[in-house]
Amino acid sequence: MLAVNGIDVYYGESRVLTHVGLSVADGQVVCVMGRNGVGKTTLLKTIMGLLVPRRGAVEFRGRNITRRPPYERARLGIGYVPQGREIFPGLTVRDNLTLGARRKQPAPERLDYVLALFPALGGMLGKRGGDLSGGQQQQLAIARALIADPALLLLDEPTEGIQPSIVDEIAEVLQRIKREGRRSILLVEQYLEFARSICDRFYVMDKGVVALEGERQTFDVDRVSALLSV
Ligand SMILES: Nc1ncnc2c1ncn2[C@@H]1O[C@H](COP(=O)(O)OP(=O)(O)OP(=O)(O)O)[C@@H](O)[C@H]1O
Ligand SMILES: [Mg+2]
Repeated sequence: MLAVNGIDVYYGESRVLTHVGLSVADGQVVCVMGRNGVGKTTLLKTIMGLLVPRRGAVEFRGRNITRRPPYERARLGIGYVPQGREIFPGLTVRDNLTLGARRKQPAPERLDYVLALFPALGGMLGKRGGDLSGGQQQQLAIARALIADPALLLLDEPTEGIQPSIVDEIAEVLQRIKREGRRSILLVEQYLEFARSICDRFYVMDKGVVALEGERQTFDVDRVSALLSV
């Protein structure tokens, strides 16, 4: 599904990712962990095309997409939920979803699908995004990405700063997507338990490199927490 091969990514002259590689198979949930500032968001932005690597390549469903702009990647089937959610505060919930659908109106079956995943949003379609709680905004951001029916969903710290009850709801939705088996998820997550409960494969980054990776069975809580502790 997705293969990131040896990418180096810079901001100006400062190198933030060094030879980072990662792969996500069909239907898999893959987690990326790591302390603040190690380059997790930079990695997702490079996969989405918001940053272009100086070396290395990004392949999606067998195509080299390294130089493709973000809108083409979205069209090819990559959905992105950015860190901090970035919903449009002045637009209604419905209009935020319509933007995610990238057409004049979301197809009714797509709208039904995301409202079945996040029933609370159904009662808020006319509300302004900015009037939702942080947790509701996060759910809206995930729904906005899912409404385009992506084959790969990129999620950047969806539980950050969210109340525990909504974290549980988001975990349930991700488990449900996993059971459906129709899409892959690449999840950046700092909460170790959340990541461990859902991942098929994991990566731990440290200062711009992959420091540890493996299948779920090899997830060693002590080793991972050592890399996450400051
Ligand atoms: N636009 C930018 N210009 C210059 N440096 C940047 C920029 N964005 C991020 N950085 C730097 O790149 C490094 C990696 O940042 P990145 O946001 O990818 O980390 P992160 O792992 O997502 O951190 P966090 O857990 O805080 O979200 C950090 O040192 C950060 O200061
Ligand atoms: Mg980040």
